[in-house]
Amino acid sequence: MSVRPQLDERVLDRLTECAARWTGFSRDAILPDAIRRAVHSLHADPEEVLARSTAHDPAVVHALCQAVSVGETFFFRHPDQFRWVAQEWIPELLASKRSGVRAWSAGCATGEEAYSIAACLLDAMPRGATVAVLGTDLLERNVAAARDALYGAWSRRPSGPQLHPLFREQPGGKALIEDRVRQVTRFHLHNLLEQAPAGPFDLVLCRNVLVYFSPEAVRVAVQHLVDVLAPGGAVLFGPMDLPETPRGLALAGAPELQIYRRAEAVPRPRARQAPVKEALPPPLPSRPRTPPPEPVAVHLRALVHIERGEKSLAQRELADLCAQVPDYVPGILERALLHVRQGERAAAAQLMREVLRRTERLPLDEELAGPEPLPVRFYRESAATFLRGTGGGA
Ligand SMILES: C[S@@+](CC[C@H](N)C(=O)[O-])C[C@H]1O[C@@H](n2cnc3c(N)ncnc32)[C@H](O)[C@@H]1O
Repeated sequence: MSVRPQLDERVLDRLTECAARWTGFSRDAILPDAIRRAVHSLHADPEEVLARSTAHDPAVVHALCQAVSVGETFFFRHPDQFRWVAQEWIPELLASKRSGVRAWSAGCATGEEAYSIAACLLDAMPRGATVAVLGTDLLERNVAAARDALYGAWSRRPSGPQLHPLFREQPGGKALIEDRVRQVTRFHLHNLLEQAPAGPFDLVLCRNVLVYFSPEAVRVAVQHLVDVLAPGGAVLFGPMDLPETPRGLALAGAPELQIYRRAEAVPRPRARQAPVKEALPPPLPSRPRTPPPEPVAVHLRALVHIERGEKSLAQRELADLCAQVPDYVPGILERALLHVRQGERAAAAQLMREVLRRTERLPLDEELAGPEPLPVRFYRESAATFLRGTGGGA
């Protein structure tokens, strides 16, 4: 077990300030334990780390950014956005006689998002069209992993349906991205607080990154994205990223899709926006699906805790949710998955069985409201696959 150094409040406060400045994170998204972890990884006295931080020592910058960053990602996350790209946006692009498309996955983590959009564009564009995807991230280790293009089961979890083929299974359970997808995708280091890579880009995905940022950092980062957006282009954010519609952009479609175009390109009246985000996102604007929005909002808050590595907070929030709304199946599966990640397979198995029990009379195609609307089939298959792997027990 690693022993974290004791940091006095002043050192903790000043290193938190540095991490916030370098990453764009709001201070309340930076856990004290992450700062302790960074100092520990440097094998140096905390006062020395502090002194080096004021000189922007690259090793200190790197350690702090790495420790606070959250790299949660998987293939075809938010699948409805990929469906929108393939079914609505690409036909529109082709109608304007475009024969190529450039996309940027900004804050791509280990590359799953960049490869997913590359596979989607390759399938949706006519044969012979040019597709180019750039993935960028703050962290070197993420960019290196993205270039390796080799993924385990967690990146391929069932909540991201495999909408477009993009990898081949390898011996040993890993999957390697297909050559045709790798050939159109490249990766660079980049900080969203700095000027964007050379554009223009027709499509920008910046999803589940800004949720951690301070309002000022969101403004700066979004401006950089808008600066390189091609005419007719679109920017896709995650469901919790934006406290309000950013200047220069307008919602293009259902609010839950979080797809934006340049304001002047969307003449329709604006849809209502989510209120300004505090330390944690407030409940989302109401959705026209059953069940009522409260369980979905609580679920989304739990996902923020999971993204921040606050697993016990998430577990508590989900347990309360399941007690109050026992038929909210997405919450039961989320709890189960959290137990799986913590190696608590018996607790997970019990909840997976609960998922099967609560869905046994529902039509397989019926969509259940959750952070992403997914059919009953998805929940039953996820639970059944897990239980098969544990011999049904655990
Ligand atoms: C939660 S992951 C999201 C990955 C992917 N976009 C998705 O939605 O699945 C957030 C990523 O943003 C990156 N990130 C955080 N701050 C950043 C910054 N200032 N500039 C660029 N990337 C940043 C992190 O390193 C991390 O890989």
